[in-house]
Amino acid sequence: MEADRNPIEIREGRGDADLRRFAEVDAESFAGHAATNMRWLAAAAPYAPLRLAVLEGEIVGGYMLLPVGQFFGGRSVPTQGVTAVAVHPAWRRRGVAGALMRDCVAFAREQGSALAPLHAATVRLYRRWGWEVGSQTLRQIVRTAALTGLSGSGRVRANPDRSAIEAMRRAHLRQWDGPLDRPDWYLSVEWDPGDPETLRFEYGWYEDDQLTGYVRYESERQAGGWIRLRVQEFIFTTLDALRGLLGFLGGQESQSSHVAFVHSAVVDASPLLWLLPEPHRDIEVQGFLCWMQRIVNIEQAMTARGWPARAAGRVELEVTDPVTGVERVVLEVEGRSARVTPGGSGQVRCGIGALSAWYSNALRAQDAVRLGLLEGEASAVSAMDGLVAGGLPWMPDFF
Ligand SMILES: CC(C)(COP(=O)(O)OP(=O)(O)OC[C@H]1O[C@@H](n2cnc3c(N)ncnc32)[C@H](O)[C@@H]1OP(=O)(O)O)[C@@H](O)C(=O)NCCC(=O)NCCS
Repeated sequence: MEADRNPIEIREGRGDADLRRFAEVDAESFAGHAATNMRWLAAAAPYAPLRLAVLEGEIVGGYMLLPVGQFFGGRSVPTQGVTAVAVHPAWRRRGVAGALMRDCVAFAREQGSALAPLHAATVRLYRRWGWEVGSQTLRQIVRTAALTGLSGSGRVRANPDRSAIEAMRRAHLRQWDGPLDRPDWYLSVEWDPGDPETLRFEYGWYEDDQLTGYVRYESERQAGGWIRLRVQEFIFTTLDALRGLLGFLGGQESQSSHVAFVHSAVVDASPLLWLLPEPHRDIEVQGFLCWMQRIVNIEQAMTARGWPARAAGRVELEVTDPVTGVERVVLEVEGRSARVTPGGSGQVRCGIGALSAWYSNALRAQDAVRLGLLEGEASAVSAMDGLVAGGLPWMPDFF
């Protein structure tokens, strides 16, 4: 194979020339502009490792990692969010992306991380390398007029303090399985350096000077028509913040026909189902990219997460990983924490992807059996499901 004749080297990206070349590769891959890419690459450089693929002496692709946490069972697990995976069109179908993903697993692990989530434009590439679907991200499009009557006690204020936003998120989002535990720099990399032509707004909801909600959106006039609001983030910790922020968005009604909550910014079972009198007439749902999840270090993934208070039991796993091989471990859960020891009988057998989807509460082990993704005695499989029962998956962060 060509890839064997010309070994693909993966190395750290450093310096301006590397950033510039990757900005071009990324621009051509995503139909963007290299100048815009340089803005976020420069903003990310102090925090986020850039890994580049070199073939025949040329930079032909790469990816970036966002060092964050991810909430599971109420605790923040060390994570690398995988983003900007791109291979130049002239160098595709030679295994470069595969080499990047294998590097990603080893590198994320070396960084001390247990998990590596991503949003997949192509599921089969990532599935081949051990990622599995957590959910399809949803775009919930709501008639703006349906929101106008809503109000809450408190008020909006533009541009809330970033560390206050992250602190509110950390306290609130740990009740789901999957949301990012973001460092305070996160929005300065993922939001601020976007295309300067796009109108972007941020508002906080304050009750007695305390931040209880946050909305972040783009606003765009559609050719010859209405303004479309694209809500990228929508956090509410109280009913007043929910009703207040929705009513605030509804205030755009005279110019805007619809508000789109994109990338699963609201949880799939939308709070609007319980708030609006006729939700089925006012909400339309569309699917977009899949959130995919991957464990890169089984022991760390299991021991760093939280477990439900009543969960107790053990499962002997044989996990097949396309990058690191076959591993047998015994997982024991008790008193909200887990212990992992090497060995055991491998009574439950699965790929690392299925284990990652189960870990995320996205796929029950018993359903994975019916999908041909997991094997084991029925009693062992249901014991395994009992360990994480009650958690709800949600990936509200798009990166
Ligand atoms: C998605 C993307 C990163 C894939 O890059 P790539 O280097 O072509 O990926 P690979 O070569 O590892 O795999 C692509 C295919 O080539 C095949 N392939 C790998 N090595 C090969 C070889 N030596 N000879 C022939 N085919 C080969 C793979 O099996 C795979 O087959 P599939 O299409 O049946 O799945 C690239 O198309 C891209 O940058 N797209 C635009 C940006 C994007 O969508 N990025 C992903 C964001 S989540």
